Amino acid sequence: MEPIFLKACRREKTPYTPIWIMRQAGRYLKEYRAIREKYSFLTMCKTPELILEITKQPVELIGVDAAILFSDILIPAEAMGIKLDFFEGKGPVLSPPVRSEKEVEALRIPEPEEELSFVLEGIKLLRKELPPHIALIGFAGAPFTVASYLVEGSGSKNFAEIKKLMYNQPQLFSSLLEKVTRTTEKYLKAQIRAGAQAVQIFESWAGALSPSDYQKYVLPFSKKLIASLKEERVPIIHFANGASTYLHLIKETEATVYGVDWHIELNVAWEILGEVAIQGNLDPIVLLAEKEVVEEKAKEVLQKAHGKPGHIFNLGHGILPQTPAENAKRLVEVVHQFSQN
Ligand code: CP3
Repeated sequence: MEPIFLKACRREKTPYTPIWIMRQAGRYLKEYRAIREKYSFLTMCKTPELILEITKQPVELIGVDAAILFSDILIPAEAMGIKLDFFEGKGPVLSPPVRSEKEVEALRIPEPEEELSFVLEGIKLLRKELPPHIALIGFAGAPFTVASYLVEGSGSKNFAEIKKLMYNQPQLFSSLLEKVTRTTEKYLKAQIRAGAQAVQIFESWAGALSPSDYQKYVLPFSKKLIASLKEERVPIIHFANGASTYLHLIKETEATVYGVDWHIELNVAWEILGEVAIQGNLDPIVLLAEKEVVEEKAKEVLQKAHGKPGHIFNLGHGILPQTPAENAKRLVEVVHQFSQN
């Protein structure tokens, strides 16, 4: 049985609108927290049996139509030769940050089959165990977002270091993005070969850039990445967070599906993006409100999509750790129930 998520990616008619939730495997689930108590986050990302178990949790507990591989966009950064830690309440820390020509040169382009084999093993286990109607999504960070972490060394408020590099040393910035692009291309192709049926590229920090800087410095790399992935013939989802003011440029990446945040109405985004599938875009905070509000706001998003083929329901960004799991479950039910075509 073909997963309806994949049909929606191809803009075919589906019996109802498929839904999955960004960051659906995570701390809002007590079953995730129970595993997290026993292992560090990195150990969880590096153990195929744990990847399998954690990836399946939201499928079984929340009822989503697609599974996203449990991992992190920074896992390949570690394989490039950077020390990676996740600190409680602080998020990821990469050390030392990559700032000089020597440091960019020292970055390696890893062989996924060797250095990231735990991810590929996890994907293979998942394809054996997931029900056939549930699609498996692989993922990676987009070149600029991963490069931002490498240069900033952590999350950032104003992205001063990566943008200084971009403005002052455009050639060095480009060779860094080139290396990250090449790494990501090999990594996502390996995920697809291992069994990922679609891949999502997270441009989480798109909102840090002006439209013209995105176009000049960043778009060529995302475009190149997506063009080379197209050979693999699986849907490519491009999610750019904070880029609703320049979707006309995001469209130039030529992805199959575009994820949009909640700063733009779905129908307006769709008009700009044209004949493509679209994923989104409920404000994640809605899931912290009363059940009636969850229902009302989910219906609003469905109305904006007009039952047009090619809508994949999702949040406009990742689900928050404080979300009541029953609200996520209710959202899935509402979307399935009220999108019956
Ligand atoms: O969606 C899924 O369920 C798959 C798993 C997934 C994780 N991270 C697990 C995770 C995915 C797709 C990601 C992507 C990711 N990681 C992004 C892009 C998505 C986005 O939010 O824009 C980014 C920017 C990161 C980097 C990252 N990883 C941060 C900033 C943090 C700390 C903040 C936080 O939420 O704790 C992480 C850690 C992380 N990645 C956790 C999980 C479940 C929490 C780790 C824990 O249990 O302590």
